[in-house]
Amino acid sequence: MSLREADFSDRIVQWQKTLGRNALPWQNTRDPYRVWLSEIMLQQTQVSTVLGYYESFLQSFPDVRQLAQASLDQVLGLWSGLGYYSRARNLHRCAQQVVQQHGGEFPRSAQQLQDLPGIGRSTAAAIAAFCFGERVAILDGNVKRVLTRVLGFSADLSVAANERALWEQAQRLLPQHALVENMPRYTQGLMDLGANLCSRTQPDCAQCPVHAECVAHLAGAAQNYPVKTRKLKRSTESLWLLWAHDNSGAAWLLRRPDSGVWANLFCLPVFASAEHLHAVLPAHHHGATQAMPVVRHVLTHKDLFLHPVRIALPRRAAPTGQGAWFDAGQWPGLGLPAPIRKLLGTST
Ligand code: ADE
Repeated sequence: MSLREADFSDRIVQWQKTLGRNALPWQNTRDPYRVWLSEIMLQQTQVSTVLGYYESFLQSFPDVRQLAQASLDQVLGLWSGLGYYSRARNLHRCAQQVVQQHGGEFPRSAQQLQDLPGIGRSTAAAIAAFCFGERVAILDGNVKRVLTRVLGFSADLSVAANERALWEQAQRLLPQHALVENMPRYTQGLMDLGANLCSRTQPDCAQCPVHAECVAHLAGAAQNYPVKTRKLKRSTESLWLLWAHDNSGAAWLLRRPDSGVWANLFCLPVFASAEHLHAVLPAHHHGATQAMPVVRHVLTHKDLFLHPVRIALPRRAAPTGQGAWFDAGQWPGLGLPAPIRKLLGTST
C-alpha cells in the first residue's frame, strides 16, 4: 500500500477546513443528541430535505428526555414525509434507552453507542468522532466510494471478508494526532468529498485534495469503484388505496399494522387488488368509484405503484371495520406517508 496515512488524513483535514461544508446546523456542536439526530435523519435522506425536519424536530424535542417522553405518534407525525419510518421508531426507542439505561447521557464510545437501537457501526463512529474525537472509522456508501477509489480497492464488497478488509483500511487511514480537533474534520471531510466531489458517475477529480495519490484517478478508472457484484434486487408491488371522502372533504384513514410498509402510520385503507378494494364497498356503490392516476413511489427495495380509488360516502358510513373520518385540518398532525400526504393535497 503506497498511500501514506499521515499525508492522506492531513490533506482531508486541510481541505475540509476551507472547502468542506462548515455551516450545517448539526456542525459546530459536540452535543451527541444533536449529532445523533442528524446522523439518523441523514442515513437515507439528502441534506437539503433533512434541514427543515431537523429544525422542527429540535424545536419540539430540544433534548433526549423530551423525545423519550413524547408519544410514538408525535414522533411519527414530525417524521412524516422523511420516509423509512423504522428510523423514527428506533429513534424513539433509542431516546428511551438513553434515559432509562444511561441516565439521559449518550454513551461516549462507538462500541457502546452501537448497542443502541438504530445505531449501526458507521453511525456510532460518526457520533463518537464528531462529539468525542474518538479515533474510529465511518464507512457509509459515500465513504466506501472515496476509499475504494483512493486505495484502488477492487475486491468485491458483496463478500463480507472484503468489506471487513475495507473497514481495516479505513481505520488505518485515520488521523494520528490532535484527535479531538482532527477526527471531526476528517470524518466530515470524507463525507463532503463523497457527497460533493467523488460522485458516482462524474467525479470532479481536478478539485480533489487526494487526486495525486488516488489509484483509481491515476488509472482513469474511477467509475470502476466500488466493486459490488450482488446488487439489491428490486421488485415492484401494486397497491390499491381506498380514498373515501365525505362531503366536507374529510378522508377515511386508519392506522397501519406494526409491520410492513408504513408500519404504525395513518393511511388510506390499502388493498392488494381492485377486487379486494371493491369487496368492502356495498354493491350499490361500485358505480360511484373513480380511479385516479397511478402514483409511483420508489423505496430502496421496490417500486410501489399506488392506485387510488376515490368515492364519496356519507359521514355515517364506515367503509372499513377499523378507521375514522379525519378532516383536512387534522391531516398535518398525523403521521401520514409522503405519497399519501401528497395525494390528499396537504403540504405539511
Ligand atoms: N451525511 C451523513 N452525515 C452527514 C453529515 N454530518 N453532514 C453531511 N452529510 C451527512
